[in-house]
Amino acid sequence: RKEKTLAMIKPDATDKIGTIIQLIYDAGLTVTKAKMTALSRKEAMDFYAEHQSKSFFNNLVQFITSGPVVAMEILGDEAVTAWRRLLGPTDSSVARNEAPDSVRANFGTDGTKNAGHGSDSLASAARELEFFFPSTGRGPSNTAK
Ligand code: CMP
Repeated sequence: RKEKTLAMIKPDATDKIGTIIQLIYDAGLTVTKAKMTALSRKEAMDFYAEHQSKSFFNNLVQFITSGPVVAMEILGDEAVTAWRRLLGPTDSSVARNEAPDSVRANFGTDGTKNAGHGSDSLASAARELEFFFPSTGRGPSNTAK
């Protein structure tokens, strides 16, 4: 079943974007939209709103606004699960043990600096894709298929 998901490459891994896009294609997935952008503090807090009560929220917002991110719409069979499998476990130090070939194992550092994000469900993907690629936005529309 074809799905779309939101992949975000975090500030610690944007310089590895070429390698990461190759991994995505090697897994049989396609990049159908892409944008490099810097999130404001407000945007970061909005994107991660579901984590606002967590102890790590401030660290997370601080990190994600420390440099540019690359957001991509990824299309493919079971894309939500497939991209999260490529990412590996959330904490990069765990990923190095449990999934040494994963994006987080190779390009992240720890539980905060973890190289990438993937939507955790189809509902999250819809919300997060709309966040980065709003269907009502000005300028050139993000309609590439
Ligand atoms: P991400 O997939 O972007 O979704 C939420 C993020 O919160 C997660 O990746 C981590 O970057 C961060 N996060 C989750 N748990 C912790 C934690 N225990 N300490 C620090 N950051 C965390």
